[in-house]
Amino acid sequence: MSSEATANPSFPPSAEMVARAHADEAKYNEMYAASINDPDAFWGEHGKRIDWIKPFTKVKNTSFEPGKIDIKWFEDGTLNVSANCIDRHLETRGNQTAIIFEPDDPKEQAQSISYSDLHRRTCRMANILEDLGVRKGDRVIIYLPMIPEAAYAMLACARIGAIHSIVFAGFSSDALASRVNGCDAKVVITADHAPRGGRQTPLKSNVDAALLHCKDTVKCLVVKRTGGQTTWIQDRDYDYNELAFEADDYCKPVEMDAEDPLFILYTSGSTGQPKGVVHTTGGYLVQAAMTHEYVFDYHDGDIYWCTADVGWVTGHSYIVYGPLANGATTVMFEGVPTYPDASRFWQICQKHKVNQFYTAPTALRALMGQGDEWVEKCDLSSLRVLGTVGEPINPEAWNWYYNVIGGGNCPIVDTWWQTETGAHMMTPLPGAHATKPGSAMKPFFGVNPVVLDPHSAEIIEGNSVEGVLCMADSWPSQMRTVWGDHDRFEKTYFSDYKGYYFAGDGCKRDEDGDYWITGRVDDVINVSGHRMGTSEVESALVAHAAVAEAAVVGYPHDIKGQGIYCYVTLMNNQEPSEELRKELRTWVRNEIGPIASPDVIQWAPGLPKTRSGKIMRRILRKIAENDYGSLGDTSTLAEPAVVDDLIENRMNKG
Ligand code: WTA
Repeated sequence: MSSEATANPSFPPSAEMVARAHADEAKYNEMYAASINDPDAFWGEHGKRIDWIKPFTKVKNTSFEPGKIDIKWFEDGTLNVSANCIDRHLETRGNQTAIIFEPDDPKEQAQSISYSDLHRRTCRMANILEDLGVRKGDRVIIYLPMIPEAAYAMLACARIGAIHSIVFAGFSSDALASRVNGCDAKVVITADHAPRGGRQTPLKSNVDAALLHCKDTVKCLVVKRTGGQTTWIQDRDYDYNELAFEADDYCKPVEMDAEDPLFILYTSGSTGQPKGVVHTTGGYLVQAAMTHEYVFDYHDGDIYWCTADVGWVTGHSYIVYGPLANGATTVMFEGVPTYPDASRFWQICQKHKVNQFYTAPTALRALMGQGDEWVEKCDLSSLRVLGTVGEPINPEAWNWYYNVIGGGNCPIVDTWWQTETGAHMMTPLPGAHATKPGSAMKPFFGVNPVVLDPHSAEIIEGNSVEGVLCMADSWPSQMRTVWGDHDRFEKTYFSDYKGYYFAGDGCKRDEDGDYWITGRVDDVINVSGHRMGTSEVESALVAHAAVAEAAVVGYPHDIKGQGIYCYVTLMNNQEPSEELRKELRTWVRNEIGPIASPDVIQWAPGLPKTRSGKIMRRILRKIAENDYGSLGDTSTLAEPAVVDDLIENRMNKG
């Protein structure tokens, strides 16, 4: 390793880790080279890690060519994802725990769901959905807390060939309605209430409010979680617990094409409303499973815990599909890191003897701030590999994770990937790479990253370079399209840099050839590891009667990574006030959800615009960052004085 020669400290894996790992450095290098030199041979081999009903004969058939964007993997193979995640394990590990459910309230008992239990419960859920009229290709919205029924629901859809679309339970009824309508869902699966951090979200009443804006044929299947009161609409609402009691224990898995959709997941982009990212069955499952095994160095018998919510892609690939395809034991946690106190994560690691732990930097920063005593009282000796995801991790948080949580001997896998990529793209492997705090290090097998010059769109070769991150070629778990809008797929990801997939992130390749993600280069911000389009918050704000115009940018935030900074121009007849500021905050929470809550609202009598009327966000970002010295060229502004007003207001906390 070249650690001493470089500015970046690096942390090699222990000899023990190297010896037990699925891949050491030599094996990584050999497999990586093979995957790039001959993707057909490489994935043809590794595609066999899952069970096919009809084996594929073709492997890769993909095009990034303008006008012909088309991505197919294993296209003539057939399979069922639910059978891969459950049935094929029954003979060898029917009694092994598939899911450990840890409830929000530590006083409530944890549950162990074996692979046989998982089979029975998934089959029942699948039969219920079929009885409700759901057929192959139909869409089902899942709006559930982090309870095992969320996994049953996903796997039940996969079993009957229905396409699920999970809506994070923290989203508002408006956001839910737009997704139900966006994919024309037949059924919404929800729960009465969602307990989280000792509080309860009334999920069912959110669904009631949402469905007022949807077709009246949409049905609602309600899981009982708290037993709390809900309203009930005859012939629209169905009681899951009652139906599950009567439902048959077996449901035959439907034979699906490798390129049939498995799920849609709505995610924020730099423009417009969230788009439905479509993932298909075969390639997605192969890469989700393979990365789960190699990146976390998962071995049979390990207890693995990813703290994400199934409402995000991380929960899809690394709580449910990847781990279960590998026959793993996966922990599902309903609560939050700080309830009842800041030791909860570490208590759970101790209680279930967790071996691999995967979380987001924002959670680590929040917990780090609470002091080490919360960690020190827990026995974390079972931990072997630590992971992070969702945003760049700052070296302070990395070092705390490494030393205080990992005791200095658990490699940290800093996994860079996206909803669109379906599975890990760049990350160190625990037994192969000496990690560097803040670096996503190396591409996973089959991933072909390039750094492009944002101005010339040319490839930048060599090391110690910086530019935008693109992919030169397809990978099996790549999204296939935007639901209902293939043109938007091409426009969003393939039009800025022709012939490449453009990720939206900037990156550096350091002197050793290792990758560092520097953050989004578009108008997407990353708040506590959640993606938020600034345009979404802007449209929520301008939908309020008092608001004439709004511009939203991200700014550095100690815990959240980025906070939401809003410049708001009021209607002529409106006076700024603290009440109005509060009202706008609540308004945005109701329109989108609590995660979109503005951190700062600055009244802006005018916004800096070019003569053609385009808002100059670069300047707004600088002002939000308190960085007035480097505003750059303001000569193209229509009214340069606007900027002075904004700076003055900012200083006076206007
Ligand atoms: C960011 C989450 C730095 C990045 C799986 C990306 C990261 C966006 C990392 C995708 C990481 C994710 N280091 N940045 N390890 N992982 N990101 O779709 O900006 O919710 O484009 O997927 O998160 O967010 P998404």
